[in-house]
Amino acid sequence: MESPFKGDILKGKVALITGGASGIGFEISTQFGKHGASVALMGRRKQVLDSAVSVLKSLGIPAVAFEGDVRKQEDATRVVQSTFQHFGKIDILVNAAAGNFLVSAEDLSPNGFRTVLDIDSVGTFTMCHEALKYLKKGGQGRNSSTGGAIINISATLHYTANWYQVHVSAAKAAVDATTRNLALEWGTDHDIRVNGIAPGPISGTPGMSKLAPDEVTSKDREERPLYKLGEKWDIAMAALYLVSDAGKFVNGDTLIVDGGLWLSQPRHISKEAVKQVSRSIEKKSRVAPVGVPKSKL
Ligand code: COA
Repeated sequence: MESPFKGDILKGKVALITGGASGIGFEISTQFGKHGASVALMGRRKQVLDSAVSVLKSLGIPAVAFEGDVRKQEDATRVVQSTFQHFGKIDILVNAAAGNFLVSAEDLSPNGFRTVLDIDSVGTFTMCHEALKYLKKGGQGRNSSTGGAIINISATLHYTANWYQVHVSAAKAAVDATTRNLALEWGTDHDIRVNGIAPGPISGTPGMSKLAPDEVTSKDREERPLYKLGEKWDIAMAALYLVSDAGKFVNGDTLIVDGGLWLSQPRHISKEAVKQVSRSIEKKSRVAPVGVPKSKL
C-alpha cells in the first residue's frame, strides 16, 4: 500500500532497528528508508540480515546490517557504535527484536521465562542505554538542537491476561514501564521521545506463525469480534508517525494498533434480545414493592 506520508519526512535521519531484517522490523526498516532514512539492522542471523540489506539497497535505501544478540551487552555496544561509525549519527532506535513461543505456565521453565525477559525487556533497556549518548540532545554526531526518538515494540497481552503467554506478558509489561519511565527521564533531561507500539495480530510475521497457528486459533477467531489481521504496513505507518515531526508532541505513549481487538469480548446476547429484555426488566424494576416510594422518573 502507498504511504500517506510525504517521502521526505525522515530525510537525513539514521535509524537503528533491532530485529530489523524480518517481520514487522523489516517493514519498519523499509518504510523508514522509503521516507528518507538510512537504516542499520541488528539481528542474529547473517543470512537473513544479508538478504534484507540487499532488498533495501535495491530500493535505493542506504542500509547496513550488524550481527548481534540484544541479550549480550557487548553486542549492543558494538552494534550501536558501528552504526554511529557507519552513518555518523543515530536519530532513531527501534527495539523490534523479540522472542516468543506458546507454552502453559505449568510447562514453562524459569529459564524459558527468563529467556524472553532477557530478549524483550532487558534487551530493550540495554539498547536504549547504549544508544543514549548518540540520541540525546547535543549527543555525539548530533548537529540538531533536539534529541532523537525511540520506539519499543510491545503487545496488548498483558492488559488483561492471556493463555500460554505468561513470559511474554511479563516481558512486555516491563517494556511498557520502561517506555514510560525513559520518556519521563530522558524526555526531561535529553529531549528524547520514547514511545511504544502494541501490534495486534499481523499477517506474515514470525510472531503470528508461532503464536496463532491456524489449527489452534480458528475457533477463537470466529468467536472474537473485531478479530482482523493487520498488515506489517499498519505498524510501520504508526512507527513513521511516532518518530517523525507528526508525532513531536507524543511521548511516553504506547500506541495500540490492533483494530480494537484488545477490547474484544464475545457477544453473549443479541442486540434484538437486549431491546426486548432490557425494557421489560426496566418496567418491572419501576413497580415498587408495597411501602417503597414510587420513582418520580
Ligand atoms: N516451550 C517451552 N519452553 C521453551 C520453548 C517452547 N516452545 N522454546 C524454548 N523454551 C525454553 C527452553 O526449554 C529453555 O529453557 P530450559 O533451559 O529450562 O530448557 C529456554 O526456553 C531457552 O531456550 P533456547 O532454545 O536455549 O533459547 P534460544 O536463545 O536459542 O532461543 C527463543 C530463544 C526460545 C525465544 C527463540 O524462540 C527465539 O530465538 N526467538 C526469536 C524469534 C521470535 O520468537 N520471534 C517472534 C517474536 S513475537
